[in-house]
Amino acid sequence: MWNLFKKLAVGLVVGGALMAIANSQEVPVSFQILFFVVSLIGAGIFALLDAKTVNVMSGGMSFLAVTVFWVFLISVCVAGASFLPQFDPEDEKAKIGKLLDKERKQSAQGKTEELIARAKALDAQVKALEDRLKGIGGGQAVAAVQVPPAGEKPAAAGGGASGDIMKIGEEQWQLQECYNCHKLRGEGGKKRGPELDNIGTLLTVEEIQQKIADPKSFMAEGYDKEWQKGIMPDKFKDLMDPKEMLALATWLGSFKNTAINTPKPIKKK
Ligand code: HEC
Repeated sequence: MWNLFKKLAVGLVVGGALMAIANSQEVPVSFQILFFVVSLIGAGIFALLDAKTVNVMSGGMSFLAVTVFWVFLISVCVAGASFLPQFDPEDEKAKIGKLLDKERKQSAQGKTEELIARAKALDAQVKALEDRLKGIGGGQAVAAVQVPPAGEKPAAAGGGASGDIMKIGEEQWQLQECYNCHKLRGEGGKKRGPELDNIGTLLTVEEIQQKIADPKSFMAEGYDKEWQKGIMPDKFKDLMDPKEMLALATWLGSFKNTAINTPKPIKKK
């Protein structure tokens, strides 16, 4: 009996040490628990070595014993595993699908943008003509004709209501997995990034866009080492189109919780 406690104690100590090491290396909590459980299982097997040997069995009895033992082991494994966090391939597939979808749309959007640019150029020409007409004294005639500004139509077709912007912004936060490094609304941020709940007070929407597009443009106060190392990835401008980037920045800019100590961004570029 005393032996059993000793071995259990060893298991607990080893498990605790493993968890502490894993924790210091920022290993996810589920793995820390796994390490602990594995060391307890180890202690259990270690303790089993002391168990009394089972009486010799033969024939049907031994077959039954082996079968029951295996069923027991397999049930324990399956039940144990189902308590651990599950990886859902459907979730990941949906995320990848969304990213790919955007790539496809982007090529189509390139054309739309070209059209908008051309429409804007035409609009500028019309305005220049208007001004010249006014100069000549035909102002009233121009007012009567009322040329609709050519640039506005495609732009209106492309943009949505402002409620949409917030939705797209939040979606980008999830999709680009900013939450891996940044805590927001008390969620996420396992990896060394500042909490962003008060970022709207410290940066304008435009500056937030700058920071996302070029992480070197601003440095969070006290995060010199992370900024130097370039922990925040420099890939987001390739993964988001300008509209999504603006939506994300607008959404983040609405976070103005002064109770949270978001570090002061220092302009670097
Ligand atoms: C791999 C980790 C990581 C990811 C992913 C990440 N960031 Fe960061 N971010 C950081 C770190 C570290 C800092 C602090 C150092 C610095 O300023 O570069 C930071 C700083 C910031 C700041 C400035 C905060 C302040 O108080 O000055 C903003 C804003 C920001 N990130 C937004 C985002 C957004 C939006 C995303 C997702 C598109 C994102 N980050 C993804 C690590 C990350």
